[in-house]
Amino acid sequence: MNTRAPAVQARQLVKTYPGDVTALNGMDVTVEPGTVFGLLGPNGAGKSTTVKILTTLARPDSGTATVAGHDVLRHPDRVRRAIGVVAQNSGADPVATGRENLRLQGRLYGLRGAALNRRVDELLDRFTLTEAAGRQVKGYSGGMRRRLDVALGLVHRPEVLFLDEPTTGLDPEARTAMWDEIGRLAGEEGLTILLTTHYLEEADRLAERVAIVDRGRVVVEGTPDSLKGELRGDAVHVELREAPGEAGRTLLAGALTGLPGVHEALFDGRRISARADDGAAAMPALLAALERAGVTVAAATVARPSLDDVYLRYAGRRYAEADTTDSLALAGGAR
Ligand SMILES: Nc1ncnc2c1ncn2[C@@H]1O[C@H](COP(=O)(O)OP(=O)(O)OP(=O)(O)O)[C@@H](O)[C@H]1O
Ligand SMILES: [Mg+2]
Repeated sequence: MNTRAPAVQARQLVKTYPGDVTALNGMDVTVEPGTVFGLLGPNGAGKSTTVKILTTLARPDSGTATVAGHDVLRHPDRVRRAIGVVAQNSGADPVATGRENLRLQGRLYGLRGAALNRRVDELLDRFTLTEAAGRQVKGYSGGMRRRLDVALGLVHRPEVLFLDEPTTGLDPEARTAMWDEIGRLAGEEGLTILLTTHYLEEADRLAERVAIVDRGRVVVEGTPDSLKGELRGDAVHVELREAPGEAGRTLLAGALTGLPGVHEALFDGRRISARADDGAAAMPALLAALERAGVTVAAATVARPSLDDVYLRYAGRRYAEADTTDSLALAGGAR
């Protein structure tokens, strides 16, 4: 196989579900071999549908896709041999043990005897499941279960690994451990990984390239830094002791945007968000202008724009407004 060919290439995928639901509306994805690519988007954006098509579990209405050089529609069997899939919902058998799950998966891919034993032990060790190997999976913690899911996807040493929301529902500690493991897989084993996530931080940390997906298509793509770099300057956040009134806001906005290198000042209660060419350089003049205007500053910070700012710019709404998973989880809905 030509190693320079993309590991994953999807062009103009369209998928509608009964009831006139457009899940994908011209989805394009290209993943270079040996890299981690993140599909980032809110609930219902079309991430899982894309993964299902690329892993031959669903057919597009139109569009084309190749994975590891094989066409997903013409040679689904070749694609399946080349990929590992970790679905959004665990595929492990809860009444079998971790070891039994791994052995079964290995046998499905033709591993037998000593080679199977070796591979299973290796994966149990690498995902710190050796101690729990003999216990039924239903007794595993969320983090252990997710680690087993990833191990199951790796049994047959795939070229391309699909991870559909590898850390959703994990506590911060388990999430960080999973991030470390995914980083190692990509770095040491040269695996190509396509992961989906609705965590901005996860995409930023793990993926070399990120595509932000909204309503069934990619709205913007690039490295996390290049996406953030497209937003001019730094984000400057100032918190005032008291919220200014309407007249005060107008006055302050005029005073701030009149400063050299400072653009736009947005007010939200006691909070002012401004954009500055060089946040640190603008800060003294900005604070002095606020003092002249007679308001007291409680706190001030300078930050590089976040992926949230990128999302706002391209999707036209705040990421938190578009994504409702966490609030659903908090409301106790098992979705
Ligand atoms: N089997 C199905 N039947 C009908 N509609 C579906 C089906 N699967 C997905 N959809 C719809 O397609 C759209 C895209 O869903 P998809 O699961 O791809 O989103 P997602 O980005 O993975 O979201 P999430 O972050 O919630 O997992 C949604 O509107 C969803 O309701
Ligand atoms: Mg999904």
